Amino acid sequence: MKYLVTGGAGFIGSHLVDALIVKGHQVIVIDNLSTGKKSNLNPRAKFYKKDIHNYKSIKPFFAGMDGVFHLAAMPSVQLSIVHPLESHDINANGVLNVLMAAKEAGARRLVFSSSCAVYGDSDGKILKKENMKAAPKSPYALHKYIGEEYAKLFSDLYGVETVNLRYFNVYGPRMAESGPYSGVIKIFLKQKADGKPFTITGDGKQIRDYVFVEDVARANILAMRSKKAGKGEIINIGSGKNYSVNQLADLIGGPKKYIAPRAEMRHALADISKAKSLLGWQPMISLEKGLKLI
Ligand code: UD1
Repeated sequence: MKYLVTGGAGFIGSHLVDALIVKGHQVIVIDNLSTGKKSNLNPRAKFYKKDIHNYKSIKPFFAGMDGVFHLAAMPSVQLSIVHPLESHDINANGVLNVLMAAKEAGARRLVFSSSCAVYGDSDGKILKKENMKAAPKSPYALHKYIGEEYAKLFSDLYGVETVNLRYFNVYGPRMAESGPYSGVIKIFLKQKADGKPFTITGDGKQIRDYVFVEDVARANILAMRSKKAGKGEIINIGSGKNYSVNQLADLIGGPKKYIAPRAEMRHALADISKAKSLLGWQPMISLEKGLKLI
């Protein structure tokens, strides 16, 4: 099969490209290299440096594609709060451009990388289920929600099959080293290596669900071919296990330093029963094991 991966030079996208190539698929990557890196790119993928907010410039690359994986994004909750216009341009308008290009090219299915940030605080409920009301707390979360709604609309209106995967906290090799795109696991590992204390935001009791990047890549491939999905379903992709930031720090092991809290959702734990029933997916790498693979 021929697949187009937007954001295929990025952290998650590049693992997906690797998995597709191992399975013998032909892969085209479009990526503007804003957070992605050429060094992440599988040499057997065809790469084009393109920006998803320019519809005309990306459209030609969708011709002849069997399916599209849309991962290109400005993937930072905190950055979107400071730069809502840029976030909207990439995380909302960009999805529309990619959906439109997929539709025009006659691609059968598009798998969209969304985020558990869409849930927001869910009336204090820790366990997030797909039928809960969306309550975005940041521009990033709102834009991902808009993307999901567009994907569903394109299925209803135009018959493009779509699946929305709501990722929880993805970690693994090739995570951003530093800056706003760097996740807490990478930050803590670097702090440990540098002999510094872990910087814990707020009281550290906030809960996250950490899912290994190769498990996420596999979920995408299953979502592309599942016969039980394709009409804009929302599907959680997490480990189903919860860790507070304090527990994560204890697992990695080292001294803690408490810093100011962030404007962010308090708790996120995935109910992964829908992923099991619709995709036949479940995570294979535990956090304890995954930490050793970074
Ligand atoms: C992450 C993702 C985002 C995704 C979202 C889903 C990153 C950078 N962002 O956001 O793309 O959509 O999950 O909810 O991976 N923390 C500390 N100390 C630090 C850094 C962070 O205690 O030095 C805390 C944060 O306040 C947060 C938790 O660790 O409570 C996780 O933070 P982070 O890895 O940045 O991810 P999210 O903000 O959850």
